[in-house]
Amino acid sequence: MRAVSYDSYAEDNSRLTVGEVNDPKLGPSQVLIEVRAAAVNPVDWKIMRGGLDGMMMTVFPVIPGWDVAGVVHALGPDVPEFSVGDEVMAYARKDVVHAGTFAELVAVSAVAVARKPAALDWPQAGGLPLAGLTALRTLDRLGVVSSDTVLIHGAAGGVGSMAVQIAHGRGARVLGTASAGNHARLRELGAEPIAYGEGLADRVLELAPGGVTAVADFVGGQLQSTLAVLAAAGRHASVADPAVEDHRGAWIWVRPDGAKLAELADLCDRAALTVDLAGTFGLEDVGTAFDLSKAAHTRGKLVIVP
Ligand SMILES: NC(=O)c1ccc[n+]([C@@H]2O[C@H](COP(=O)([O-])OP(=O)(O)OC[C@H]3O[C@@H](n4cnc5c(N)ncnc54)[C@H](OP(=O)(O)O)[C@@H]3O)[C@@H](O)[C@H]2O)c1
Repeated sequence: MRAVSYDSYAEDNSRLTVGEVNDPKLGPSQVLIEVRAAAVNPVDWKIMRGGLDGMMMTVFPVIPGWDVAGVVHALGPDVPEFSVGDEVMAYARKDVVHAGTFAELVAVSAVAVARKPAALDWPQAGGLPLAGLTALRTLDRLGVVSSDTVLIHGAAGGVGSMAVQIAHGRGARVLGTASAGNHARLRELGAEPIAYGEGLADRVLELAPGGVTAVADFVGGQLQSTLAVLAAAGRHASVADPAVEDHRGAWIWVRPDGAKLAELADLCDRAALTVDLAGTFGLEDVGTAFDLSKAAHTRGKLVIVP
């Protein structure tokens, strides 16, 4: 099969190549998926820089990519819940960084797989799993319900834009930070937009004078403003700043979960959740997509279509 790979850590894209590699082996409880779409996430280039080396085992060469949507090509002997030809998606992170999704085929544990929602096209479905599961897990850990006023740092990003929609769908009041160019889209998704940067806490307290009951940080480095706007007994969580744990916040590291992914698919099919796309790229253009992701100002998902 054709795949993108790199054979050592690198700060830039110089070790990325595209070429023929062996097809993946299919384990007994795995699903072999023909990849139709696979989103780029910031974690992909952070891993390539060696940023997760202290945490996760890496075996070179690495095929990057943790998101996938595609068609079931073959099944291990213990996977009765899927059939060849099913349209599926998965957050395909494994415990060892090695055989990712920027390829024509990927083998994924069946427990991580869910059916593709009919409401999404292939690139949208390839952009849903990691970001959607992160948004859902964060809001679940915070226990966000209709009586909450939630501040979302990074509301226009891949994770943030899904969190806005899910929290809004639960009936919560949602305040979301983004630059001015993204404010109109945030309103459409269900949030009251706020500019980030200097003076953020004052702007939040102007809109919610008693403070907010929950804060979800999808940017990092937001602890000071988070603590300044939290109401008494407010809850907060971050996916990008472990320091929240020193201030009674939850540090979230999302895990693959096919059942939760099916919940997200259901929200999509009920028109309560959609996935914005920033662009699609071939396998040869993974480096271009990495550079756009590093710049951190894309609205919507960058998706590889092999
Ligand atoms: N721990 C986990 O399990 C986990 C899972 C997923 C993601 N993450 C992390 O979460 C972060 C976000 O991921 P993502 O996929 O959502 O990234 P993304 O889509 O690349 O985020 C881009 C967005 O960030 C916004 N942004 C940049 N600086 C900002 C700031 N200071 N305040 C508010 N918004 C800002 C940009 O909005 P503007 O263009 O309007 O500036 C843009 O919409 C990354 O650090 C990622 O590694 C962690």
